[in-house]
Amino acid sequence: MSVRVIVGAQWGDEGKGKVVDLLAQQSDIVARYQGGANAGHTLVVGNRKYVLHLIPSGILHDGVVCVIGNGVVIDPAALMEEIALLESFGISIEGRLKISHKAHLIMPYHKLIDTLQESDQKIGTTGRGIGPAYIDKYNRTGIRIVDLLDRVQLEEKLRSGIAQKNEWFRKVYDAPELDVEKTVAEYLEFDQKIDPYVTDTAEYLNDAWRSGKTLLLEGAQGALLDIDHGTYPFVTSSSPTSGGACTGLGLPPTAITGVVGIVKAYCTRVGNGPFPTELLDEVGERLRKEGDEFGATTGRPRRCGWLDLFALKYSVMINGIDEIVLTKLDVLNGFDELKVCTGYMLDGRPVKHFPSDCTSLDRVEPIYESHRGWGESLEKCSRYEDLPAATRSYVEAIERFVGARVSYIGIGPGREEVIVR
Ligand code: GDP
Ligand code: IMO
Ligand code: MG
Repeated sequence: MSVRVIVGAQWGDEGKGKVVDLLAQQSDIVARYQGGANAGHTLVVGNRKYVLHLIPSGILHDGVVCVIGNGVVIDPAALMEEIALLESFGISIEGRLKISHKAHLIMPYHKLIDTLQESDQKIGTTGRGIGPAYIDKYNRTGIRIVDLLDRVQLEEKLRSGIAQKNEWFRKVYDAPELDVEKTVAEYLEFDQKIDPYVTDTAEYLNDAWRSGKTLLLEGAQGALLDIDHGTYPFVTSSSPTSGGACTGLGLPPTAITGVVGIVKAYCTRVGNGPFPTELLDEVGERLRKEGDEFGATTGRPRRCGWLDLFALKYSVMINGIDEIVLTKLDVLNGFDELKVCTGYMLDGRPVKHFPSDCTSLDRVEPIYESHRGWGESLEKCSRYEDLPAATRSYVEAIERFVGARVSYIGIGPGREEVIVR
């Protein structure tokens, strides 16, 4: 019995999907707690690749129940598309997907606003309507799954929401107006399709926890994109950090037995915002190429750089990470020298804590520690002891610096390409 949070420890795309799929083999339930279809979690099994955006990454295992919690913002179109895609691969969702009646819906106007705002704001969002949907949630004007049950009220809410946004589109952006009738019809149709999955997921999860089931709480994005603890304003609009798992699912903090931080062996970031160890040279280019660093949701090239241990230590602290899964170590094969950042200098002085403002973070100079690379491929390694001495030394330097144990090491995208420590 355990209830573990799986959290991205950097700027997202650390390999959470692969790890959740792996750990789901010994779990009963996988529950997503925040974000929406901005996430792209990749699972590679044999020669088939699945990219999941909303459905938890435990779905490939027959016996695992997948929960979409109240903290997630659901885009009906994206969800239905994902269910259809999985079914086309012969994966049945029937009886294995539970959706919180308290989850908020992404509306067509949220996606439109997201795109329109980007022309002024330039956060580099995924354009999936995430920020605008959470704005409505916190503004207490959002539409939730439970609202789908009351058709009369739903129609009323939809009509007033669309009318209000249409007015704004006209005034501010001179954008085309949304068709009220079409949207109402679409959401009523979605209601019918989604009905069998909707339930009180907090009750379900608490029952499961109390009866000794094994739960994985799957985060999306990463700690440095957290609305409170990330590199604000270049963040997402939810709480990917481990604390978000409790509010996003209705499980109490006392249920959590561990926090697993997923850490890429180097750093990547999609979208704008500070990235102290970013490499704008041929080394960064090589990481992008070897690591196939292109967004799973938007296809955008990811910015690449050396592993930032200073930022990671902050992430370990904020999340309470007690176990690390180190992914994509194989991407570092063949480098003569590897660098890791162990601190920042600002105006000639070492920085004490991870800066909270982007202006400082943009100006810091990373302090690097150099590590020997390894020439050989890690492909044939099946145990930790099989890894080259320089590889083990890199892993152990990470553990020492951040104070958390590396329990699994990813050496390829496939489900089996992992070393258990
Ligand atoms: P997520 O959003 O955290 O689930 O990560 P993404 O799926 O967006 O990006 C991670 C990418 O790295 C995917 O293409 C994975 O298939 C791939 N991947 C995961 N672990 C490893 C690994 O250990 N080695 C390599 N080479 N690729 C990996
Ligand atoms: P997974 O779960 C990497 C980034 C966007 C942008 C910022 C805000 O696959 O790790 P948003 O659309 O959320 O308002 O965009 O956050 N971002 C991600 N980056 N991985 C993700 O998810 C991301 N989800 C959002 O690129 O910089
Ligand atoms: Mg991703």
